[in-house]
Amino acid sequence: MSPRKKPSFGRRLVTLVTSAGVIAVLAIVNRPMVAFGQEQYHQFQINRDSYKSEYGHWDMLPVPSNFQVNAIHAALLPTGKVLIIAGSGNKEDQFKAGTFKTLIWDPKTNHFKIVTTPTDIFCAGHAFLTNGNLLVAGGTKKYEVLEDKITHAAGVLKIKQESPEGDVTEFDKGTIVTSKTGVKFKLTSDVKVPPATKKIVDGEFDITAGEAEVWIEAVEKGKDSVIPESMQFDIEGLTGEDKKTVYGIAEKVTMEKQEYTGAEYSYEFNPFTEKYERTGNLNEPRWYPTLVPTADNQVLALSGLDQFGRIDTGKTEVYNENTKKWEFKPKINRYFPTYPSVFLMQNEKLFYSGSNAGYGSAKEGRKPGIWDLKKNTFQEVSGLRDADMNETSASVLLAPAQEQKVMVLGGGGVGEDPKSTARTDIIDLKEANPTFKPGPDLPAPTRYLGTVLLPDDTLYTGHGSSGYRGKGNSNHLTAQIYHPDTNKFVKAADPTVGRNYHSESMLLPDGRVITLGSDPLYDKSDKNPGTFEKRIEIFTPAYLYHGARPTITDGPKSVQRGGSYKFTTPDAASIKTARLMRPSTVTHSTDVEQRSIALDVTREAGSIGVTIPKERGLVPSGWYMLFVTNADGTPSEAKFVQVQ
Ligand code: CU
Repeated sequence: MSPRKKPSFGRRLVTLVTSAGVIAVLAIVNRPMVAFGQEQYHQFQINRDSYKSEYGHWDMLPVPSNFQVNAIHAALLPTGKVLIIAGSGNKEDQFKAGTFKTLIWDPKTNHFKIVTTPTDIFCAGHAFLTNGNLLVAGGTKKYEVLEDKITHAAGVLKIKQESPEGDVTEFDKGTIVTSKTGVKFKLTSDVKVPPATKKIVDGEFDITAGEAEVWIEAVEKGKDSVIPESMQFDIEGLTGEDKKTVYGIAEKVTMEKQEYTGAEYSYEFNPFTEKYERTGNLNEPRWYPTLVPTADNQVLALSGLDQFGRIDTGKTEVYNENTKKWEFKPKINRYFPTYPSVFLMQNEKLFYSGSNAGYGSAKEGRKPGIWDLKKNTFQEVSGLRDADMNETSASVLLAPAQEQKVMVLGGGGVGEDPKSTARTDIIDLKEANPTFKPGPDLPAPTRYLGTVLLPDDTLYTGHGSSGYRGKGNSNHLTAQIYHPDTNKFVKAADPTVGRNYHSESMLLPDGRVITLGSDPLYDKSDKNPGTFEKRIEIFTPAYLYHGARPTITDGPKSVQRGGSYKFTTPDAASIKTARLMRPSTVTHSTDVEQRSIALDVTREAGSIGVTIPKERGLVPSGWYMLFVTNADGTPSEAKFVQVQ
């Protein structure tokens, strides 16, 4: 595609070259005219039917200004509407003002609606429950504080109570604690410390101190209050025996950068009432967690930064849809970097592709592998190239899901590392000893790639940047379709809006792809702060320019695994395939739910019969889009069905 050139600078150049002679002037004034012509030609080209039927087409979605939000999270609801969550939208002023936003857009009616958002679910995790509610857990408790903004030393104080005799000891916010070296700090919140627990082990008392953690801040400004090593603290107001048995310990108290901190709030977003419903809290506050639905209808919460901005050490917890409560499951504790891409496999084990987004040790938890939840074993898999560039990569369970192939695409080095990769690798999880095999390269090294399964089993891929958060003006205005049958990328029409960090791409029930968000660090000059991208652009794939679409006119709304069902259609004879596609719930290039399941199809006059596979690991309970596709590769619009 020819580059877009604007007819700019023409006048200034003319003035500059006037004295250089008539010929030069003519040449220069002509250049913008050529560029303008090129743009006209480009528009003519991309709007031709023949072009659209080969490459597809992009359209900007006009969004009224009062409905423009920072799209940090997106999910497709079982009502066919798009849920877009901003929370505070990575804007500290919005956070401080308590302004948290959620937007719903209905692609059928083009109706927009702002939904009341109770707390800051910016950078929470989300997963669909079996009833179609979207579980949203975690989010932002506090924004990061950069080192140059820190005035007082601060850190985590663990308060211990060694006596099993006493009650819960409560300390109020503002209570003074003093280090053994005489430096004074105050508690920044109330804290309750349980008494020690006493057990009899082998005929002897075994006492475990009660513990609680609290954030402390120095009373005095400046470096003199920094405590660089582990230190014991006395707590104001304690005397005698209490002073001996109740005390604080801090590993360090510093003036280092303070990370964003995690929230414990958890909600079910009900797509039918379009309201958040509070559930039991997370036991571990989480910022940047991944929520993963399992085969037995539970949801795991993995990773995230805790209430003090420390990465979760691997405290897995599980949500129960019936009790609406979260519970720690120490038997399946496992450490991952933030937003790990973890997929449910047909055999009910989980596969961690190594993709992740944001925070965590550069060494630990980065190797992909198969996690057996029943035994809590983790079988590492090999073969992934550029394994040190898996942060901000994309991972997707390719279609059809029965093939159990996961593709890892692009990615970059840990943190703000400038390097990134164009590699894609594919693993076949059905093999006895699965290993990654090379796939085709992306057109350029890419972080934050959008990846969307399409009803014809191809994979839309697009956007992203080669640099960290678009640094170096490195957004890719390109899209390409991956064809699993030929193992090749084929060029698609170019989007006009660049997207990197905090952006999403998702399949709509009408077969189009919505793209939204982007949070560049800098503007194009690479000097000034970037602006959050609020424009929404929609891609219509080439398959929608190939003639009439098949339609599903009626059928059951609810189906069961292993069952066969009849759907009426006037196009039965021409219908080639049927797919159950689980709607996306995507954030930070992480979408562990989208999957496309092939259904066996039978045809008779006026209807088709489809059979739902029986494996829970293949078709976890919940709402799906049923798409049928004809011999030309043209998909129907989706019909939503609930797999019980
Ligand atoms: Cu984020």
